[in-house]
Amino acid sequence: MNIKVKVFSSKLYDEEFFNRFNDKKLILEYLPYRLNEQTVGLAEGAQAVCCFVNDVIDSTVIRALKEQGISLVALRCAGFNNVDLEAAKTHGITVCRVPDYSPFAVAEHAVALILDLNRNIHRAYNRVRENDYSLKGLMGFDLYGKKVGVIGAGKIGKAFINIMQGFGCEVLVADPFVKQAELPNGCSLVSNSALFEQCNIVSLHCPLTPETHHLINEQTIQNMQPGVMLINTSRGALVDTAAVIKALKSRHIGYLGIDVYEEEADLFFEDLSNTFIEDDIFARLQTFPNVVITGHQAFFTKEAMQRIAEVTLDNINNYSLGKIDDMYCV
Ligand code: NAI
Repeated sequence: MNIKVKVFSSKLYDEEFFNRFNDKKLILEYLPYRLNEQTVGLAEGAQAVCCFVNDVIDSTVIRALKEQGISLVALRCAGFNNVDLEAAKTHGITVCRVPDYSPFAVAEHAVALILDLNRNIHRAYNRVRENDYSLKGLMGFDLYGKKVGVIGAGKIGKAFINIMQGFGCEVLVADPFVKQAELPNGCSLVSNSALFEQCNIVSLHCPLTPETHHLINEQTIQNMQPGVMLINTSRGALVDTAAVIKALKSRHIGYLGIDVYEEEADLFFEDLSNTFIEDDIFARLQTFPNVVITGHQAFFTKEAMQRIAEVTLDNINNYSLGKIDDMYCV
């Protein structure tokens, strides 16, 4: 019997890629809703659910899934901070993910934010469209020779290091779980505080865990170089947004580039252009000329979407055959 999967938070591009690679003919039902306590009833009739970054798979949802006979949560993303893994274990629900779909997609997006912020491309674009060719306020700095701090040197962090070294930057890395020998040649493993003290650019590439929640806060910002550029393409809650706004206002943070935001679930992936933003903190962030925000799109390349579809479908098929690979389970 073909396994039935309810695909939550689904967009047309998810449908397009999943349908294209669904060789084994899983029965996929696409739902535009986020999975949470209110919507979990929609999973009825399926054997598995497929979820994305802002679905809330907490203990209540896990219990409800179990009661409906669902035993697999197939994440179509790398991070799994939105799943209560303890509850999943207790209820015998397997959780799988796509650990390495394209580290380049995310690393390259982090670099895009750096280049845009540094050279004020977002402002220049608007000026030129208005026939304003003045350069006032657009001055950037050479990346060559600058110190770049990387928090978390996993797959994405390493891809990012390689690119920044290509620009001639000196790279410092903070990651409690890697050894110097595992890092690309030429970068140095240091403590968080040494990294914050020395770097002109700080880019976050670690997962969101209880230890990394609000890793960037009032205190850590104080340790950073005045005028520092902060980049977050990892998870929003690594950063205390209120503290960052304070530091932008005092000009201690000189540039902010984010693809993720701690309260993004009610904003990102939707067209809200006919309404207004209720989140005053997010609205304040949007007022700074030296802040660039993208709506969780760092993963969004053709190559990454293909790999996400292929691995997620493989995970579900392999699970149904009882042979899912440990490296895809969390
Ligand atoms: P990975 O598991 O390969 O690497 C994570 C690294 O962070 C590991 O080296 C680990 O040792 C390190 N780490 C763990 N705790 C740390 C801490 N307290 N301080 C410093 N480093 C720490 O993961 P990968 O694939 O590189 O992804 C990193 C993160 O990027 C994911 O957890 C996810 O949150 C985010 N991501 C964002 C995407 C987007 O579209 N914006 C897409 C994909 C991932």
